[in-house]
Amino acid sequence: MRAQAGWGLADVPDQRGRTAVITGGNSGLGFETAAVLAERGATVVLACRDLTKAEQAAARIRKGVPDADVRIEELDLLSPASVQAAAGRLRAAHPRLDLLINNAGLMRPQRDLSAAAAVAAGIEPTFYVNHLGHFALTGLLLDRLLASPGSRIVTVSSLVHLVGRADLEGLARLPAPRVSPEAPRSAGPGGRLPSRPRLHYPRSKLANLMFTFELHRRLAAAGAPTLAVAAHPGIARTGLTRNLAPPARVFLGVRAAPVMSWLIQSPQMGALATLRAATDTTARGGDYYGPSGWFGSTGLPAAARSSSRARDAEQQRRLWRESERLSGVTYDFGVGPGADGAQTPAPVTAPGEKPARRARRRAGILGNG
Ligand SMILES: NC(=O)c1ccc[n+]([C@@H]2O[C@H](COP(=O)([O-])OP(=O)(O)OC[C@H]3O[C@@H](n4cnc5c(N)ncnc54)[C@H](OP(=O)(O)O)[C@@H]3O)[C@@H](O)[C@H]2O)c1
Repeated sequence: MRAQAGWGLADVPDQRGRTAVITGGNSGLGFETAAVLAERGATVVLACRDLTKAEQAAARIRKGVPDADVRIEELDLLSPASVQAAAGRLRAAHPRLDLLINNAGLMRPQRDLSAAAAVAAGIEPTFYVNHLGHFALTGLLLDRLLASPGSRIVTVSSLVHLVGRADLEGLARLPAPRVSPEAPRSAGPGGRLPSRPRLHYPRSKLANLMFTFELHRRLAAAGAPTLAVAAHPGIARTGLTRNLAPPARVFLGVRAAPVMSWLIQSPQMGALATLRAATDTTARGGDYYGPSGWFGSTGLPAAARSSSRARDAEQQRRLWRESERLSGVTYDFGVGPGADGAQTPAPVTAPGEKPARRARRRAGILGNG
């Protein structure tokens, strides 16, 4: 990937006329990303699990940018019903979408998630929120993105994907009570995955990157006008570490900021990689941006290093299949927006392409998974 160095806030182009959906847009990096896009003129939808927090975030953006077009949408990525409902409302409100920013994330689940559908289904919550919920949301909004030339799907990964392992056989299937550190360590319904909570987050962030690379391949094969691009913020001071043990929280917290600035940056700086992935006009599908400073933890965004595991095409395809199976959402790269918001087949056809050839091409794409 070629990426010019020194890309900063001033390089974010005019976003007037564009609509961006940002998951987890109420805090941290999602909020900073949303604020900049709104300031540049985009219609911004904060898709958040807590509508009160979302409204407060929207009000903060409007305070800085009085004419900002900021909307809120309820979305709990841990609930398949919520993802379905949010996608339905977004589809009804927006015939086309320009940006979907899969930003929301969970590093360590709190202990009160036992009622959540994902947990009841025996699926580890970190994987569910960070990857599977976004996989489903993206698939359900895909035709709205395909309807918009120049649209992008940006997914936020992490430096820690470098230590993530795919473990695809039992990727998501963990014992239901994994949310509690006191829960006994036993084999999950899949029966294969060792249950070590500190590995869940890196695995989910590896999945974010593998998803982007596979999505890029499928979009390109379909001749789609949409780019899949990934980003990571390095290490940024946000609420992400709120459920970690106290030493880590203190180390990464605001009070340690003056002595940790060589390693940890502000959320505004962290959001630049996402903004670059979303708006740099030289970006290509499959690009991956992150801070250019020491160890990729701070600095202006540039091309980032991905692990060989993340680039393993066979593993990407397996992740895709497993994600379809677990989420129940399959992607159709040949659909366009239906008038009533339902997915109706609408061919992505090259000029002059014959229907039979189109059908063969589509079969090839769909058979790929
Ligand atoms: N900060 C870093 O150093 C760092 C490093 C690498 C990658 N990242 C990635 O950056 C992204 C943003 O994280 P952040 O650092 O900005 O942390 P953050 O401030 O904690 O933001 C996380 C956002 O995700 C939302 N979220 C959590 N669970 C959700 C769910 N079930 N449904 C919908 N939204 C949910 C949170 O909502 P609530 O406010 O309601 O909890 C919050 O808005 C994440 O993907 C994270 O993995 C961050």
